[in-house]
Amino acid sequence: MLWRSVKTFVTLSFASAVLALNNGVGVTPAMGWNPYNAFSCDTTEAQYHAQAQALVSLGFPALGYDYVNLDCGWQATARTSTGQITWNTQAASSFHNVICLPDGVPALATFVHNLGLKFGVYSDGGFFACDFVGGTAHYIGSLGHETADAATFASWGADYLKYDNCYAVNTTDFVDDNPPISIEPHYTTMADALNATGRHILFSACEWGVQDPARWPASAVSNSWRISNDIGPPASWDNLFRIINQLVPITQFAGPGGFNDLDMLEVGNSGLTADEQQTHFAFWAAAKSPLIISTDLTVASSQTLNILKNTRIIALNQDTLGKSISFKRRYTNDHDVWSGPLAVMARLLQVFVINWETSSRSLTFNLADVGFSSATATDLITGASLGKLTTSFTATVAAHGSMILKLTGGVPVASPTFTFYPATGGTLAGGATPRVVNSTVTVVGFVGEGGTLTFTGVNGGTAGGTKLLSFDYINGDVTFTNTACSNCRNTFVSVNGGTAVQVQMPLSAQSWDILFSGYLVSLPGFKAGKTNTVTLSNPTAFAPDFYRMGVAV
Ligand SMILES: *[C@@H]1O[C@H](CO)[C@@H](O)[C@H](O)[C@H]1NC(C)=O
Ligand SMILES: *[C@@H]1O[C@H](CO)[C@@H](O)[C@H](O)[C@H]1NC(C)=O
Ligand SMILES: *[C@@H]1O[C@H](CO)[C@@H](O)[C@H](O)[C@H]1NC(C)=O
Repeated sequence: MLWRSVKTFVTLSFASAVLALNNGVGVTPAMGWNPYNAFSCDTTEAQYHAQAQALVSLGFPALGYDYVNLDCGWQATARTSTGQITWNTQAASSFHNVICLPDGVPALATFVHNLGLKFGVYSDGGFFACDFVGGTAHYIGSLGHETADAATFASWGADYLKYDNCYAVNTTDFVDDNPPISIEPHYTTMADALNATGRHILFSACEWGVQDPARWPASAVSNSWRISNDIGPPASWDNLFRIINQLVPITQFAGPGGFNDLDMLEVGNSGLTADEQQTHFAFWAAAKSPLIISTDLTVASSQTLNILKNTRIIALNQDTLGKSISFKRRYTNDHDVWSGPLAVMARLLQVFVINWETSSRSLTFNLADVGFSSATATDLITGASLGKLTTSFTATVAAHGSMILKLTGGVPVASPTFTFYPATGGTLAGGATPRVVNSTVTVVGFVGEGGTLTFTGVNGGTAGGTKLLSFDYINGDVTFTNTACSNCRNTFVSVNGGTAVQVQMPLSAQSWDILFSGYLVSLPGFKAGKTNTVTLSNPTAFAPDFYRMGVAV
């Protein structure tokens, strides 16, 4: 009965207009370095120095990576006598083995600035900061001290603020992905406080995607907002799948000055193969996520550097149009197709095909999935020109690898037209029940766990055979931890009683009243004429709630 657990404090908004924060920075996604995925909260001044120097000596600033940011572990447990936020000077009495910044934050800011880099600070919009190695010690949070802390950060020379969300509810609730209060005001208050300092400080909202920040919209108060729970550490392919599904319903909210943050990069860290790291980096870039390196650069391999320094992929990320790729199609548990526009010229597309299979194989990209019959293509990983592609392109793609193409001169192909069958007109059995969403939309819920929805009298046309189906559904089953189908739900689709095919339907929003329209799946087994049946089920879990099914005419 998951659809009943609607989150009370989710702000609902159907507006897709992007309201960018006018603070003069972060017009394209931020690029830089942060310690967290490599060092957690156990950071030292020596590490920060070494990483900032490595960033420079490896040539990263010229590629756009120019922020060096603090993360957790630097704060003291108490403010100064005048109420200022300050750094820890008492290692012996805390759970940290060393004092993170014995020379203090301003000295580190000067060190970073003297290397020609920008400096980022880190704080928390709750009663205490996040600190996963700090044991039961409580480190300073900024809630209630926003004006003073913003002024302090500005005086220290901060160019960036990552703002976390621990203890946002009260002094005992450490991490809460379903808080009983609205946390948006924590971010609005700090955004206003940063503005009041007069210093141009990039504001990175890190509230892990709880209460659907893309729809507040967070773009009005921040330059980027985390969309999900942490990517790690440790890194894993399952974490990437969870985050990618969580991005599906909110790609339209990215625009110049305000971006979906898919979390810091795991490139260079253990837990992902080289091909997975390549897919991860390029997908994050094409989705216009900030590209914050979070590995130990003093020991980075040439493979790590090659991935992070690919100028064609970085150019996707820094494209001035600022539009994210969006979800186009998921072939049954097999591969995804995403695409999006670029600024340079009309009908220029970035195309992203992810191989979800665990083996290398031949994969075919159908140009019609991105709206073209033909186009001229470049492989953005290698830079190789692929010439003119017509109808489709087939290549060998590694396990969890991807094709990342730039298309120019695309010739549009007509999109299919569908005959629609409302779910409420189908045959409901075993618990499947209509649910009124609003005055115009009623869906069928409780499909799965024995509940079935069968569309009858479906037109197979004059020839039958394989048909393209389009599903409009609602799946608000958001998750912040990995599940069997993280931020997606499985539906088993059977045509005329034949073998049921499993399809994975991603999140449609973090609430149960926003539709995903046009999930496409191509299935065989149709007969000519209007006597076909299509049955939706799931023997072991709930499927989404269905609004309608279309069949391509
Ligand atoms: C503060 O906000 C105003 C209004 O949006 C904007 O014009 C100004 O540039 C902002 N200043 C800073 C420092 O962000
Ligand atoms: C803190 O918030 C959590 C989550 O709402 C709640 O369960 C807990 O009782 C609260 N504790 C206090 C001391 O208010
Ligand atoms: C009803 O919900 C649908 C799906 O989210 C939405 O497109 C439509 O605008 C809503 N209609 C009304 C009257 O609220």
